[in-house]
Amino acid sequence: MSDNYDVIIIGGGPGGYNCAIRCGQLGLKVLCVETHTKLGGTCLNVGCIPSKALLHSTELLETAQKDFASMGLTGEVGFDLKAMMADKDKTVEGLTSGIEFLFKKNNVQRLKGYGRIVDSTTVEVDGKKLKTKNIVIATGSEVATLPNVEIDEKKIVSSTGALELKNVPEKLLVIGGGVIGLELGSVWRRLGSEVTVVEYLDHIMPGMDAEVQKQALRIFKKQKMKFELGRKVTGVEKSGKGLKVKTEASAGGKEKDIDADVVLVCIGRRPFTNDVGLEAAGVETDKRGFILTDHFKTNVPGIYAVGDCTHGPMLAHKAEDEGVAAAEIIAGKAGHVNYDVIPGVVYTAPEIASVGKTEEELKEAGIPYKKGKFAFIANGRARANHKTDGFVKILAHAETDEILGAHMIGAQVGDLIAEVALAMEFKAASEDIARTCHAHPTISEAVRQAAMDVEGWTMQS
Ligand code: FAD
Ligand code: NAI
Repeated sequence: MSDNYDVIIIGGGPGGYNCAIRCGQLGLKVLCVETHTKLGGTCLNVGCIPSKALLHSTELLETAQKDFASMGLTGEVGFDLKAMMADKDKTVEGLTSGIEFLFKKNNVQRLKGYGRIVDSTTVEVDGKKLKTKNIVIATGSEVATLPNVEIDEKKIVSSTGALELKNVPEKLLVIGGGVIGLELGSVWRRLGSEVTVVEYLDHIMPGMDAEVQKQALRIFKKQKMKFELGRKVTGVEKSGKGLKVKTEASAGGKEKDIDADVVLVCIGRRPFTNDVGLEAAGVETDKRGFILTDHFKTNVPGIYAVGDCTHGPMLAHKAEDEGVAAAEIIAGKAGHVNYDVIPGVVYTAPEIASVGKTEEELKEAGIPYKKGKFAFIANGRARANHKTDGFVKILAHAETDEILGAHMIGAQVGDLIAEVALAMEFKAASEDIARTCHAHPTISEAVRQAAMDVEGWTMQS
């Protein structure tokens, strides 16, 4: 391995590996340093992919158990947890080895080891110093922890442990009503756990459109997930074979103990930037450790940062887009990420998806807007599929009709949101969607009907 590179990337997650592939495509001599044997980072190994595999199998299980009879389908369906986990692991294995293939195809060199920056042209990997013209930091994030709640990944677990429990806990207590809590809470509820979510705020999924938050809470409660809103966990104690979770009202007082067999801590993630040589190289971070960037450039010339270790939503596709843009800038092109159009999806059943501004954000910014809404109960395909919960909401500028945001809850909305994201990327008006022919019967018609409703001419409700 020659040690004179155009780019060394530290981290092989979605930010790092996509940056590496794009660098390779652009003819740069690139090395990706990843400490783990498998590439793919949090997303492929312990995040997006394994969680979606379990969400998929358990959603099918619940559909079989609860909805099949109403469609005239007979026979009982059960599950084998070990086999379900093996299926998830197989999916992960296939995808992580796929990145090895993509590296070879695109002339990306890979080094297994822990990278630390020495200076703006030197990275040290397990004692060996490598020279490079540019460095991209893509070290991602790690689980945020709570005082008095020690994660052992067996009884008190982070998302990583919750993806590989050996048995279905009778009582699962989830700390944090955000994305992980709702997704992994759903997985274990469907497998039989009694799930209680303790959330500090008085609502779930902070930052989402308020109407979506309310509808989602109603649906999750109907699914028998329990919620303790406006409450915080102050500690977890062993109690016989189980756990006693000490809580109090977020405002203080009103103490309450809740019994659990397993506790899932998912109160957010923090940047993994502690031991990467940032201080030695003079790379600036904020107080929480996020690397400060301007168009992916840090304050040190030649050092870039992308993904979860920088500001912005902690999402795989955001990391990916930043990795690609950084590679393009290094190659002398005009890399760019449009932060106004980054979709977010929660893969529960129903799914929840959003892009752009929420109503609350538009009101706060004083931007005049019109709103169109369409409920899935009036969509033919949703009815045929027995998936009628939820709605699509489109927000457009009151004067120009430019689409400013879309917020959805319903089956498959994680895919529907791409249509609105594309429209927004082209600065489309709501009328552009309203006048686009959508195939019938598809659930995508709900997007068109919501767009029609912006001007008040919905045809199907
Ligand atoms: P990471 O994926 O964290 O990758 C960083 C890599 O750098 C790691 O492999 C790490 O080992 C390596 N590394 C760190 N330091 C060093 C070093 N010094 N030397 C060598 N290697 C190093 N996002 C979505 O968009 N959709 C989802 O459905 C979704 N689901 C998720 C589910 C869970 C349970 C979790 C935890 C996260 C989920 N996310 C999801 C978030 C997503 O995983 C992250 O946003 C994404 O992985 C960030 O990519 P990254 O490249 O910035 O960092
Ligand atoms: P999150 O930020 O989504 O939710 C954390 C929740 O915990 C918030 O509602 C917060 O108010 C609450 N909280 C914080 N401290 C608390 C306390 N002491 N007691 C009770 N509640 C408390 O973080 P989460 O769910 O851990 O996910 C981490 C990251 O992973 C997110 O940034 C998310 O973007 C990403 N992710 C994305 C997914 C997706 O795109 N589908 C899936 C899973 C994770």
